[in-house]
Amino acid sequence: MVSAAAVDGVTSMKEEGDKDGLGLSLGERVRADFPILDQEAYPGKPLVYLDSAATSQKPKVVMDVLRDYYERDNANVHRGAHQLSIRATEAYEAAREKVGAFVNAETSREIVFTRGATEAINLVAQTWGLDNLAAGDEIVTTVMEHHSNMVPWQLLAERTGAVLKFAQIREDMSLDLDHMKSLITDKTKLVAVVHASNALGGVNPVSEIAEAAHAVGAKVLVDGCQSVPNMPVDVQTLGVDWLVASGHKMCGPTGIGFLWGRMSVLETMRPWQGGGEMIDQVYFDHSTFAEPPARFEAGTPAIAQAVGLGAACDYLSSIGMENGAAYEHEMSKYLWERLSEVEGLDFYGPPPNASGDNRNPLLAFNSRDVHAHDLSFFMDQEGVAIRAGHHCTQALHRQLGAAGSLRASLYIYNTKDDVDQFIEALRSTLDMFKAMDGDGGGAGGGLVGGEPSIF
Ligand SMILES: Cc1ncc(COP(=O)(O)O)c(C=O)c1O
Repeated sequence: MVSAAAVDGVTSMKEEGDKDGLGLSLGERVRADFPILDQEAYPGKPLVYLDSAATSQKPKVVMDVLRDYYERDNANVHRGAHQLSIRATEAYEAAREKVGAFVNAETSREIVFTRGATEAINLVAQTWGLDNLAAGDEIVTTVMEHHSNMVPWQLLAERTGAVLKFAQIREDMSLDLDHMKSLITDKTKLVAVVHASNALGGVNPVSEIAEAAHAVGAKVLVDGCQSVPNMPVDVQTLGVDWLVASGHKMCGPTGIGFLWGRMSVLETMRPWQGGGEMIDQVYFDHSTFAEPPARFEAGTPAIAQAVGLGAACDYLSSIGMENGAAYEHEMSKYLWERLSEVEGLDFYGPPPNASGDNRNPLLAFNSRDVHAHDLSFFMDQEGVAIRAGHHCTQALHRQLGAAGSLRASLYIYNTKDDVDQFIEALRSTLDMFKAMDGDGGGAGGGLVGGEPSIF
């Protein structure tokens, strides 16, 4: 893992950019914490993992905490007076404290553990949403939302008669804030917006959106799946009502995520799932319910995963979210620059600004000659793992006239060397297709809208 000294070193060397006194970048320093990265994807082809927006790799310290938990403390929580149960409960509640502190919640009781961001959004839709929306009410969202922050609202709209309105993107593919504000009217009951787009990479001005929404009495839910892992997120400064995130994208295990809700809002929400732990009193004819967050955590929770997420928060905090973000901004610019050198590509997303802080370290793109799936398949043979598909933003891709795209996404452990190897693999794959086709028409042929040639 990153030693405390190494982490201090990163912090104190900040003035020298991403390099420490030994000439190592943050990525180079933390890489050893992630054993999975130290392998060959195929013989002679070292793994270059560029799919962290889908899921991040896990530092050893998180895996150690999971093992320790199962080896020493495992028991059910909130149920027993015996030692193990007490220790498991303490570890679970300590994890809630860590997650709360990580996003600067006023109290850890504002953190509801869920299976992931998707479950957290569905929880809000099916409790607050069903109770507060009626025919003619409007939900304002954006065209760049992940399916997780779109389909639950479509289902809610179907059941209540509410109407979904979509804010557009500008020509440079950043959110059209003026359009979004024009959609927010006194019919608006909810604004649901992604903080950082998993497809376009742009960071949205959430506080400004929240102000506009609150001015008409609407509530605001923020999808923080791609922001919480990559930048300091302070729910109090953002001024929103709910924020959701997934543990597996921020160095934590799968199967755990969280809903942060302002306590005054959580208190008004009725239970979602019924079962153990979420009750106060149970009679044969009715039940009364626990206060938040227990009210929303029916049944045995993902205890070890929550403990692992707490360890992930500790790990990221030890690096410093400001440091991580500054490094990622630089890497994001580098990725954009290097990819711009390759001919025949179309990019999806706003260009980086001077500091790079308007984007996450990811870039979705298409070759005009070779299908995204073909490219991804052949780049995998070179050891480079990048995503091909619609990245759960199918409606956006449809609007952009693309069936799918390729997406390279970086995290704190990636280095410029990774980007260079990616560019090299991309160039050689494009050259191979060109040679197969002679005129660059591409064996992939179908381009952004068609069928890949190899599947
Ligand atoms: C922006 C965004 N929102 C929501 C999700 C859904 O997260 P999960 O599948 O972990 O619930 C993702 C995952 O890719 C995402 O990138």
